[in-house]
Amino acid sequence: MAPKVTLSTLNALKARRQPAVFVTAYDYPTATFAERAGVDMILVGDSAAMTMLGCPNTLGVSMDEMIVFVKGVCRAAKRAFVVGDLPFLSYQQSDEAAILNAGRFIATGCDAVKCEGGVRVAGRVRAMTDAGICVMGHLGLTPQSLSQLGGYKVQGKSQAAVDKLLDDALALQDAGAFAILLEAMPPEAAAYIRDRLDILVYGIGAGPHVDGQLVISHDILGSFVGDIAPKFVSQYARVGSTIEDAFRTYASDVRSGQFPAPEHWYPIDPETAAALKSAVAVNGAASNLQHATV
Ligand code: KIV
Repeated sequence: MAPKVTLSTLNALKARRQPAVFVTAYDYPTATFAERAGVDMILVGDSAAMTMLGCPNTLGVSMDEMIVFVKGVCRAAKRAFVVGDLPFLSYQQSDEAAILNAGRFIATGCDAVKCEGGVRVAGRVRAMTDAGICVMGHLGLTPQSLSQLGGYKVQGKSQAAVDKLLDDALALQDAGAFAILLEAMPPEAAAYIRDRLDILVYGIGAGPHVDGQLVISHDILGSFVGDIAPKFVSQYARVGSTIEDAFRTYASDVRSGQFPAPEHWYPIDPETAAALKSAVAVNGAASNLQHATV
């Protein structure tokens, strides 16, 4: 088995200018397939609210629900570096809440946790890193602040906006974050920030000049049920329509009597089969008689 991906592995990839391959997963089978495909990092994202629970945004998933997703992924991820995404209100209230909830992810098997925000969460990040927890920051389009951002909008489009992002990134780095994820911004903005940081910088919809590329697995697999189709993803499969076709064919086979066919039946020895058949006939006749006399 390939050795576990650690912070040293991720730093070595960066030193070689080899981008880390980073995908989301929320369950054991998907994480197993990602692992077999050799991905380096898995995010158990709070996007689970949308991809797995059908919510309209990421705010609808609780810490207890995230733990269930994390359990399945961590059982599968023998090599990949797993990041647990702290859901809305699991770290905003206090340092104690942040340490406790991040600690639950780590105790369940995550290698690191992620939280959204810059300067305003730097204190929380410091509290978690002081507790020995690896923390990834998340800047740019941060879906937990969707209302404040005014919706799913590209970030970092002006010098002032990029300077603000850089201030946030530096605050996270100073607070001990091992990495920052930049979401939805022009490549030039991401490169500007990355070039001014010492820590790892990953991107989702942030162009090529970062240390690794994250995608939401449902987006690249074609299994997201919803209206959002980000510009920055390529679809590598049509899993949703494959599943739908399989269910449609199964439904038609059941309705037409083609399923189950003899090859799906469990065999029984002929005498027992004959005995059962005659018993059914006798019982059937007896119950018919009873019905007739009622
Ligand atoms: O929850 C998630 O999958 C994320 C990505 C969108 C960055 O946070």
